[in-house]
Amino acid sequence: MTQVVHSYAPEIEASLEAVAERGIDPTAAIYERLFQAHPELKPLFWRDDNGAIRGEMLARVFEAILDFIGDRRYSDHMISTEMITHEGYDVPREAFSTFFANVGEGLKDVLGPDWTPGYETAWTEMLADIDHFARHTPRSDVITPARETDGRWRS
Ligand code: HEM
Repeated sequence: MTQVVHSYAPEIEASLEAVAERGIDPTAAIYERLFQAHPELKPLFWRDDNGAIRGEMLARVFEAILDFIGDRRYSDHMISTEMITHEGYDVPREAFSTFFANVGEGLKDVLGPDWTPGYETAWTEMLADIDHFARHTPRSDVITPARETDGRWRS
């Protein structure tokens, strides 16, 4: 059980448990809806010929969500570092907030009538928090005045 420190934690956890209890694997639903809404993201997974990368990535995202709603031992920093490492896969930074929102929508799809107003509110609030972290991640490809003065970016 995650240590609860954010108001939306119980409802987020309940939504994830509701999916698990029904024995549903939401992976296909989540990626199908992502690629339908954002077809430009599909070719980025060109190396993933059997779905293993998509599955592994989603598992990490769920772990990150559980940490994010709990004591945030790593997830807030991880979102930033993944944004930077994913530049190597040509993943645009905006895709991060899109992806997390799409996970919520995917769970809503698979739960259908069992999706509750409490889940809806909790996901909206958590996604706003995640978006905040995503937007405040400094860009590694932009030379800010602070970086210029520390000398590392001078040739
Ligand atoms: C915090 C959010 C994310 C986490 C924790 C995460 C994690 C990971 C991990 C662990 C892998 C490697 C999986 C493996 O090789 O088995 C991976 C690969 C990948 N991720 Fe993410 N990811 C995140 C967000 C995103 C987003 C938003 C996109 C954009 C759609 C994305 C696109 C990709 C792609 C295209 C690959 C495959 C790279 C390759 O060709 O090997 N990721 N991700």
